[in-house]
Amino acid sequence: MNISGNTIFIPGATSGIGLALALELESRGNTVIVGGRRAGLLEKIAAEHPGIDTVRIDTADPASIDSAAREVLAKHPDLNVLVTMAGIMRVEDWHKRESFLASAESVVTTNVLGPIRLIAAFIEHLQERPHATIVTVSSGLAFAPLKVTPSYNASKAAIHMLSESIRLQLADTTVKIVELEPPAVRTSLLPGQENSEFAMPLDEFVAEVVALLGSQPDATEIQVERVKFLRYGEARGDYDQVVETLNASDPHAQ
Ligand SMILES: NC(=O)c1ccc[n+]([C@@H]2O[C@H](COP(=O)([O-])OP(=O)(O)OC[C@H]3O[C@@H](n4cnc5c(N)ncnc54)[C@H](OP(=O)(O)O)[C@@H]3O)[C@@H](O)[C@H]2O)c1
Repeated sequence: MNISGNTIFIPGATSGIGLALALELESRGNTVIVGGRRAGLLEKIAAEHPGIDTVRIDTADPASIDSAAREVLAKHPDLNVLVTMAGIMRVEDWHKRESFLASAESVVTTNVLGPIRLIAAFIEHLQERPHATIVTVSSGLAFAPLKVTPSYNASKAAIHMLSESIRLQLADTTVKIVELEPPAVRTSLLPGQENSEFAMPLDEFVAEVVALLGSQPDATEIQVERVKFLRYGEARGDYDQVVETLNASDPHAQ
């Protein structure tokens, strides 16, 4: 995708990677609309960044997705980029039904059904734009499992395969599918992760992502250097070692 001149909707940008990316893309000459549930954060973002528009959206709720999509498209008919950023990560214990089932259902609803419903809400509009992009957000954990977060890993593997599949179907349209594959990044996705020495500083991650978007306009996967350890374990033939190292270094390991 081009790195400027777009109109970009990022549901899931009230904090973390989404917000940092929104600010960086706005500074590079894009119109950016930030979405999320936390109204206080949306108000703060709108007050501090008059160039950024905001919309309240709960991506776990199909009605909220549809009404937010109508609002965004009415105000921004030039919208040509959708970034399905909203996601949650939960530590689960799969030994007992009560210690994982509710969590697993929420993770799948937010991380898998959310992006699917968002794409459904925007896909017809995007095909009418001359250059459009859907950026999906998977994870290094789509390619190597962290023991304590089974549903999350599975949800991100689903996003990887969904991205691969719809890219094939939409090859006959103006819509490109780009999969962003973050490694561990210092955000509040999990308690303690903001200060974790195992996670990449947020500003460094976003700078590398934006540099890759600029230097590789035809890339189908956005991979910072730090994610390649997880992303290519199987291809390199050291998958077992990758899984062992990943889980040995995890501060959430039980
Ligand atoms: N940080 C990492 O290590 C890492 C690694 C790989 C992938 N990722 C992915 O990157 C994405 C962003 O995560 P982050 O690390 O930046 O964490 P974060 O700071 O917790 O951000 C998550 C964002 O998603 C939004 N969100 C969550 N549930 C939502 C819902 N039901 N409706 C609307 N928005 C919702 C949150 O906004 P509200 O709470 O205001 O709704 C927030 O803006 C996620 O998809 C995550 O899986 C992160």
